[in-house]
Amino acid sequence: MEDLPRLARDSDKKDVLSFCKKTFSWGDYIHEVWDSWIAEGNLIVIENDQIPISMIHAAFYPDEKMIWIEGIRVDKNFRKNGIAQKMILYLEKTAKSKNCKISRMLIASENEPSLTLAKKIGYKIISKWNYFSLESKLIDEETGITSDTCIDSIDSFDQKNSHFIESWRWIPLTDQRLKKLNSEKKIFCQKDNEKIITLGIITESKSFENTIILELVSGTNSENMIKFTQNLAYQKNYSKIRILTELESLPSIQNLENKFPFYLMEKKL
Ligand SMILES: CC(C)(COP(=O)(O)OP(=O)(O)OC[C@H]1O[C@@H](n2cnc3c(N)ncnc32)[C@H](O)[C@@H]1OP(=O)(O)O)[C@@H](O)C(=O)NCCC(=O)NCCS
Repeated sequence: MEDLPRLARDSDKKDVLSFCKKTFSWGDYIHEVWDSWIAEGNLIVIENDQIPISMIHAAFYPDEKMIWIEGIRVDKNFRKNGIAQKMILYLEKTAKSKNCKISRMLIASENEPSLTLAKKIGYKIISKWNYFSLESKLIDEETGITSDTCIDSIDSFDQKNSHFIESWRWIPLTDQRLKKLNSEKKIFCQKDNEKIITLGIITESKSFENTIILELVSGTNSENMIKFTQNLAYQKNYSKIRILTELESLPSIQNLENKFPFYLMEKKL
């Protein structure tokens, strides 16, 4: 019989990584984030015979009254026993005790077991996100798309339910966050006659290796924004760019790869 959820320790790493290698067709990312998730806290495991057989991580956003749930893994030999459900419900209970009102998670649209699980316990799809990958690249200054590119100021997002993406987490975008992102120059905005024509948020991931995320919000001129991000990533020594967007297609850019879509799921607690 497996035990109750408990906080993970660094000494669990080897056992956990042993069942998080070939989780998906492309592998897994838990090895990249383990150290930073342990440091952040709220990394949970369940044991069987004193050996961890599942894991889950949560990040709490008290100002936004939100819990973000990520990295749900159950060892193949222990699936379909209610373990994932038990871990999620444990975190939701913790979240409620911290006054969180919403719980969110991201699930690949092709991940049927996870989608079934999430829907069973009350999560609803709130949006669909397309995921593209690209390598960093030095862009020729003559293109005019390098660090000198003119970025217009932005005071508000007129989008309903807007959020920004940081380390693969969709965080509600409050005015305070918008101000902070603005002052950190993470917002790429180009206007034409005061009307926003290209908008994106560029964040450097704290936990994923070598990764810059571009959330592409809108863009009649998104090629410039993507190339700007490629150049920025190159200057800052990041190799990988992850582009996440609700748009269905992007301009054709060399080596831009259309991966798979994700659903942003939410449950009211
Ligand atoms: C998805 C995963 C975490 C589920 O873990 P689990 O412990 O087997 O899930 P549970 O036993 O708690 O399942 C609860 C419910 O989820 C659904 N579910 C779980 N596995 C399923 C499957 N293979 N097919 C269809 N539905 C499934 C069912 O509704 C199930 O309820 P039921 O048993 O009453 O039918 C596990 O399969 C896994 O580790 N997969 C690989 C990693 C992954 O996809 N992680 C999630 C990324 S978002």
